Amino acid sequence: MPKKIYSLYSHFYDSVFGTLLHPGRRMASELMDIQPGEKILEVGIGTGISLPLYRRDAEVIGIDISRDMIKQAGEKKQRLGYHNVKLCITDASEMAFKNNYFDKVIASHSITVIPKPFETLKEIKRVCKENAEFFFLNYAGIDDNLVAKFEKALSPIRCRLGLGKTIDLEKLLNSANFHIDFKNRINIFKLVQLIKCRNNGV
Ligand SMILES: C[S@@+](CC[C@H](N)C(=O)[O-])C[C@H]1O[C@@H](n2cnc3c(N)ncnc32)[C@H](O)[C@@H]1O
Repeated sequence: MPKKIYSLYSHFYDSVFGTLLHPGRRMASELMDIQPGEKILEVGIGTGISLPLYRRDAEVIGIDISRDMIKQAGEKKQRLGYHNVKLCITDASEMAFKNNYFDKVIASHSITVIPKPFETLKEIKRVCKENAEFFFLNYAGIDDNLVAKFEKALSPIRCRLGLGKTIDLEKLLNSANFHIDFKNRINIFKLVQLIKCRNNGV
């Protein structure tokens, strides 16, 4: 499902979700505080809209399941000359990377879209170093009980549109043994959640 729908979205993704979600991406990249030489994984990199936010002396690997989204990211990488970036078509729930490789991981608006989020979190942990840091940006919905109920009812439609399931990300992160260090609601109407976690070693 994500492959088909994101193949379609790849043509207009940046125009629709570019500016709208960019303040959150910028805040996440500031919080990441990437250092020279660090190994960064972006899960569900899409059209590579975050590429300009990464420093050029870090090693960045972006994965996505959609060939068409990766194609767009590849064009950006070429055009902007990001020689430090590698892009792979990979299912985030079954990565081919070796254990203990990455220093930092970001999943920007992807964890609720990925069909197997729990397995993906386990994979993210496997490919990261022991003291790695993890960053999640995620549509969290309106922080109001009544509207939230209405939103939850619309969840199957959001899902069909490839906009992700309404899930309790904090609960999911806890169940996968991610220790939450920081969380904040950001963007317009505080609809987006920015969460920073670290490996708790389990
Ligand atoms: C909403 S887009 C987010 C793109 C970008 N990270 C951003 O900040 O806008 C979600 C991306 O997750 C990708 N995706 C969905 N399922 C995936 C999976 N199993 N493995 C890797 N990427 C996946 C989609 O193809 C899509 O490009």
